[in-house]
Amino acid sequence: MSNLNRRSFATLAGLAGISALLGRENAQAAPIAQQATTPSTQSRALRFAHFTDLHITPDRQSEPGMKVAFDTAQAEGIEMILTGGDLIMDAFAAKRAQVDREWALLHKIFAAHCKVPVEHCLGNHDIFGYCLSKAELNGDEVDFGYARPLAELKLPARWRSFDRNGWHFIVLSSVERDPNDECGYLAYLTDEQRGWLEADLAATKLPTVVVSHVPIVSVTGAVRDGSNVKAGKTELSGGLIHLDAGPVHGIFRKAGNVKLVLSGHTHLVDRCVADGVTYCCSGAVCGGWWKPTTTYCDPTYALIDLFVDGSFEYRIKPTGWTNA
Ligand SMILES: [Fe+2]
Repeated sequence: MSNLNRRSFATLAGLAGISALLGRENAQAAPIAQQATTPSTQSRALRFAHFTDLHITPDRQSEPGMKVAFDTAQAEGIEMILTGGDLIMDAFAAKRAQVDREWALLHKIFAAHCKVPVEHCLGNHDIFGYCLSKAELNGDEVDFGYARPLAELKLPARWRSFDRNGWHFIVLSSVERDPNDECGYLAYLTDEQRGWLEADLAATKLPTVVVSHVPIVSVTGAVRDGSNVKAGKTELSGGLIHLDAGPVHGIFRKAGNVKLVLSGHTHLVDRCVADGVTYCCSGAVCGGWWKPTTTYCDPTYALIDLFVDGSFEYRIKPTGWTNA
């Protein structure tokens, strides 16, 4: 993402600070006024890390940076890592040889440094070759598109759910091809995925965490600088924020048990609560794509505690790595 100025970043950093002050949230079902303020006295069910936007590449310092991130998070006693997509630098518009190098390094890094179970979510940069002209693909290759990351990560499907320690987890996959732009993409749930989501939520009463690479609801777009203001309207790209935020939020609200919705994509930290559902952008493990930045976040991850009463605590933490 581009065009974020220092003031915008300061706003976002401030939001993160305010969120930290709020402490543990109890996003039980209505009444909303009681949500996010009632401290839990229950015990912890699970501590995990949300690692989003890793952008692993042998061309920058991602190998030592990832080692530090794993060491930092694992020293906190995490029991799981939930990734948020953009696992490698880019497969969307890159040639096969480069994509091979990046996946190879990802596997090497995870094998060497990750000591806890991992559940992966896919991002736009993990999709192989949707930008046909730059990737130099035809689109009929056996590993084209989502086939490559699913095979690399041994995932059974683009979207899925699972239970862990009394909580339900839903992993979404909402990046679709833009019919009007070969090298673009749009974020939304297809009818098939949206139907699956409704059925999946209807089948559980457990408190639920959702992860989506692209934010569904986010304040990030609203605090960007003036370049997205046109003719008196603030325009939010369908590649930046879900196009179907309204209906998807409606599904979460109707379900009543969706507590926390995690995302990445923006390489910024933000947090907002809508109707008792907390939406958080967890920054980026790579910060500004493994380069120094004054526009994007520093290398960050989210440390999340889930409690047996359905409450949670969400904290943004530095990975300990500094891009230079
Ligand atoms: Fe990213």
